[in-house]
Amino acid sequence: MNRAPIGIFDSGIGGLTVTRAIYDRLPGESTIYFGDTARVPYGPKSPETVRRYSLEILQWLVGQGVKLVVVACNTSTAHALEALRGASPVPVLGVIEPGARAAVAATSRGSVGVIGTAGTIASNAYRRAIQAQSPALVVEQVACPLLVPLVEEGWFDRPATELVAREYLTPLMARGIDTLVLGCTHYPLLKPLLGRVMGPQVRLIDSAEETARAVAELLVDSDLSASPGSPVYHRFVVSDDEPRFRQVGSRFIGETLASAEVVALG
Ligand code: DGL
Repeated sequence: MNRAPIGIFDSGIGGLTVTRAIYDRLPGESTIYFGDTARVPYGPKSPETVRRYSLEILQWLVGQGVKLVVVACNTSTAHALEALRGASPVPVLGVIEPGARAAVAATSRGSVGVIGTAGTIASNAYRRAIQAQSPALVVEQVACPLLVPLVEEGWFDRPATELVAREYLTPLMARGIDTLVLGCTHYPLLKPLLGRVMGPQVRLIDSAEETARAVAELLVDSDLSASPGSPVYHRFVVSDDEPRFRQVGSRFIGETLASAEVVALG
């Protein structure tokens, strides 16, 4: 089992930020990434639909022999993590718990902001995870649905993106948050812009990095790490539009994506 790959999935391209963080932290591990590009976005969809899609992907990844599944999508983690854990023969890790833990550790005045898709924010999953660890913390949440298409367009640092970000974040700034959780796969690419908008006094929490750290811990604790010197490979699988996945995805993962397979689910 130690030689088996880590399964990673997302609604589409965004989970490649989590994949990048896993590569950086665990260069000796192989991965299979599934991006549900046929059915993206998950953000505005109902919890039931997101759960159904997520369970289908889990089943496919388990069929590929993965040793662990990382739910790189915040929306899927918010709506489906429990169902996935109940259905999976291998450990399943989401992005919300690690991000929440980091926010609790980072906050200085006890006021944490969370931004994410409409589904993630409506689920209150981050608020619950943060307050489960520290009930006195105030958690202010804002859905920022327009940021996903702007990032997919490659507009990481354009005036239009900054304008939209300011509109969303002004209420959070007015409430005096000292920490901001980037609760969506796409937001790590906006870190410089969001840092500028929020100012240096606000700590930005990147769920991708925190999740990679949690994956590393889980591999050690469960004795599932690949042995040194094992061959390393990375497979990319999408449910549609492979050329766009490779083109846009290269920016997310920070390297050229030479090929991706297409597998239709559902
Ligand atoms: N991957 C999603 C998330 O992290 C963002 C894109 C979508 O709405 O599917 O919530």
